[in-house]
Amino acid sequence: MRILIHKDYDSLSKWVAYYIARNINAKKPTPDKPFVLGLPTGSSPIGAYKELIKLYQAGKVSFRNVVTFNMDEYVGLPEGHPESYHYFMQERLFRHIDIPKENINIPNGNAPDLEKECKEYEEKILKVGGIDLFLGGIGVDGHLAFNEPGSSMTSRTRIKTLTLDTRVANARFFDNDVSKVPATALTVGLGTIMSAKEVLIIINGIQKARALYHVVELGVNHMWTGSMLQLHRYGIIACDEEATMELKVGTVKYFKDIERHALENLPDLLTE
Ligand code: GLP
Repeated sequence: MRILIHKDYDSLSKWVAYYIARNINAKKPTPDKPFVLGLPTGSSPIGAYKELIKLYQAGKVSFRNVVTFNMDEYVGLPEGHPESYHYFMQERLFRHIDIPKENINIPNGNAPDLEKECKEYEEKILKVGGIDLFLGGIGVDGHLAFNEPGSSMTSRTRIKTLTLDTRVANARFFDNDVSKVPATALTVGLGTIMSAKEVLIIINGIQKARALYHVVELGVNHMWTGSMLQLHRYGIIACDEEATMELKVGTVKYFKDIERHALENLPDLLTE
């Protein structure tokens, strides 16, 4: 697993956006051979989405032949609700770039048959050739997407009950009223994420320090589902200094040293 420790959230976001853009360009995607990108919501990727929009506006990357699959969506929230993940993605990324509407996939939390929706979501991913790069964030309890502690490490897209922890954390978006936070969500599984060719997880801020410690320095454990990244062939964590607060000094120095080239050469990423 690679761990890139950036000095702050801004440089982290820039690096993530450049990395995604470079990978898209490297594949030279076409309508028949699109670049397939897994995407998260939440506050963690907002900076990277802003940078991706800038790269698009500067003509450095196009999303015409990119197909996206979002990680998750609440059950029962109307798509137009300002806290639905459909709304979030539209506002934070999709309406600012040239991605065709039909290339966007987000689980439908209002589908009449939710189990069928989950099954078809997985089939759609397979049909398009699998996910090239899955971008993600992490919960304070180390969860990926809505794979709460105790989730099966081989799980696929399904309905999940949200923990009280997660609902309390997300209550800030629902007038600080936990009862307004949906109790269930559709989420890709840990197996879905692990099947991606590459996985890139953003971990920033002091509130994520414990999660980073569990994911990096302790073993693979279903109670910290992000730790499964240790088993991925191409797993990357992009974190900031703040999030490293619980890591050993030696761990921080080690990863800064072996990744110094990648950290120092950000501007060259798109011209390599
Ligand atoms: C939710 C989302 C996750 C996200 C997490 C952290 O649980 N389902 O995909 O990673 O929140 O969110 P934030 O980035 O706002 O800290």
